Amino acid sequence: MPERIMIEGGVPLRGEVTASGAKNAALPLMAASLLMPGKMVLENVPDLRDVRTMKKLLEHLGVRCEGDGTLSLDSARTGNCEAPYELVKTMRASVLVLGPLLARFGQARVSQPGGCAIGARPINRHVAGLEAMGATVYLEHGYVVARADRLRGAQIVFEAPTVTGTENLVMAGVLAEGETVLLNAAREPEVKDLADALNLMGARITGAGTAEIRIQGVTSLTPATYTVMPDRIETGTYIAAAGITGGDVTVRHCVPDHLRAVIEKMKKAGIDIEEGEDWIRARCGNGIKAADVITDPFPGFPTDMQAQFMALMTLSDGLSSVTETIFEQRFMHVPELCRMGADITLSERHAAIKGVRSLSGAPVMATDLRASASLVLAGLGATEGVTEISRVYHLDRGYEDLDNKLAGLGARIWRTGG
Ligand code: EPZ
Repeated sequence: MPERIMIEGGVPLRGEVTASGAKNAALPLMAASLLMPGKMVLENVPDLRDVRTMKKLLEHLGVRCEGDGTLSLDSARTGNCEAPYELVKTMRASVLVLGPLLARFGQARVSQPGGCAIGARPINRHVAGLEAMGATVYLEHGYVVARADRLRGAQIVFEAPTVTGTENLVMAGVLAEGETVLLNAAREPEVKDLADALNLMGARITGAGTAEIRIQGVTSLTPATYTVMPDRIETGTYIAAAGITGGDVTVRHCVPDHLRAVIEKMKKAGIDIEEGEDWIRARCGNGIKAADVITDPFPGFPTDMQAQFMALMTLSDGLSSVTETIFEQRFMHVPELCRMGADITLSERHAAIKGVRSLSGAPVMATDLRASASLVLAGLGATEGVTEISRVYHLDRGYEDLDNKLAGLGARIWRTGG
């Protein structure tokens, strides 16, 4: 019987939980190890399915990976420049090896990531940027093949921000000749985390975290030890868990400034938020208020919190709307939430959510990482019946030990099968 997560809801969550390292920071940081021979060490690496996939890919490329939470990556003997379909198809973020391989070895052959549950997700902006830096890039048998003796610095204007596109070109620019300027770049904290780590290893990057990033090429980098930033989306998910159960949860070891837009919306939804330097306390004693959300690149409301916020709105005191502007197909959780009694109407990229008095437990199916988190939240909020979530491998891709962490807050949650 495949593994499932079972939840008996209706319990107000109480207590403290610690945020793990961020998946979307750890993956580009691991790929960055390809830029330099020698042992790079990452601390606070989350134990996730996607991290294990990136490890497998790096080992396939010749990187020696040792450890888990503290991970050492030695790419002194890296020589293979091909990222195979078998690995890339399981994780789109594998495309993050394209920039570093090309920058260090002058060649890369990376399986073109296909579409995924949330959208087509092309990589044309990654490719256009590498071409502007002098690379020859073509598609061959489903593989993106890129070649360049040495990349040259260039000015690149993104038609719209792209997170991994920005990260790929930052890594390519680090070893390029001259200066690379990225305009309309992604401003996500994970991009800044990558740049901070590379600067620690001798890179010359300024402006990361803003829309204009400048990278002065250097000839080599020196590996060092770096600590991965906390996961802001995991933190936001726990805040929503406090809200949907009417609980009182403190998330430790997080960065409130990474969650400004989320905190503002949670307050609008009736959740009392207190914060300190590295903690956030979320309490919800008077029910959930309807609030509208439009997703946007950072510092806007993150698309990776959209499904979780929608779950919260299913139990609000009125009508709310959620508009998804980043991905064209990120409402796969809606029919599953409706199976639990939610009242949601979809039209293109808009969802109208009419708050209901209660949700009931039901068998539901996870379709992607954040959709599965919204089903867990709905299960915690359901006051009668047991929710049975299948395809939990989606959840394990991006949440470290979620069910045990929730059980530590008093949730009635357990795994079965598998
Ligand atoms: C990153 O994906 C994250 N993944 C995603 O998190 C996140 O949802 C997304 O950024 C947006 O915040 C990682 O960091 C590993 P984009 P990425 O390129 O970089 C279009 C999660 O749940 N686009 O910023 O792939 C694209 O189709 C995951 O943890 C192009 O058209 O996202 C999308 O509509 C899911 N051409 C938009 O831009 C390109 O070349 C933003 O995508 C690149 C992107």
